[in-house]
Amino acid sequence: FADKYLQDQHWVITAGPTREAIDPVRYISNYSSGKMGYAIAHAALRAGAKVTLISGPVNISAPRGCELIEVTSAEQMYQQALTYAPQGTTFIACAAVADYRVADIAKEKIKKDNEHMQLSLVKNQDIVADVAKLANKPFIVGFAAETQNIAHYARGKLKRKNLDLIAANDVAKAGQGFNSDDNALTLYSAFDEIEIPLANKQVIATKLVSLINQHYLAKSTK
Ligand code: C5P
Repeated sequence: FADKYLQDQHWVITAGPTREAIDPVRYISNYSSGKMGYAIAHAALRAGAKVTLISGPVNISAPRGCELIEVTSAEQMYQQALTYAPQGTTFIACAAVADYRVADIAKEKIKKDNEHMQLSLVKNQDIVADVAKLANKPFIVGFAAETQNIAHYARGKLKRKNLDLIAANDVAKAGQGFNSDDNALTLYSAFDEIEIPLANKQVIATKLVSLINQHYLAKSTK
């Protein structure tokens, strides 16, 4: 079936935010809804792929037919991604991973006894960059949410993290990106640059999945 063009592929997708615990009742996180990653999972499934969705805490339900791996923290997402990515043909890093975690998670609820308090943070490991270091690595697609100099930062991440593709969006624009139903993306490879104009995330995902597959096929026949 022409519409099942991903029949022989296995896509491993990270989606949603991560939560970094401060104490038993508090955490640091971000506004990621998971909608973009879930829409990609859905579009890849419709095209016939096997899909493993490694997801942080979100309020949407996983598409029927995917293998859902639920995680909370960046460290948990890292472990699962490094376990599943080598089994895939394609790895999509759509998650908004927290850059830092709390150095020492308090065992008891922190009391408001002091006028000032400080949290010490340590950098989380970069999941997609480490997947790209694997000997048996899949085809790798990253995302870049930027508020300025989008092309410059996106191309920098493509190179530095050793990705095959990076999809960049302008999160400063109203009505697209984080927590929105709509998005607009520019897809960069080392060789080209393709605009996907503002549309519903389902429409964006359908176009993106087809474009990713075209680049994947182009690479594997080289
Ligand atoms: O460096 P930055 O966080 O902007 O890069 C974004 C890309 O890197 C996204 O694809 C995101 O999923 C991925 N990333 C990751 N692990 C991190 C941080 C970002 O996989 N710790």
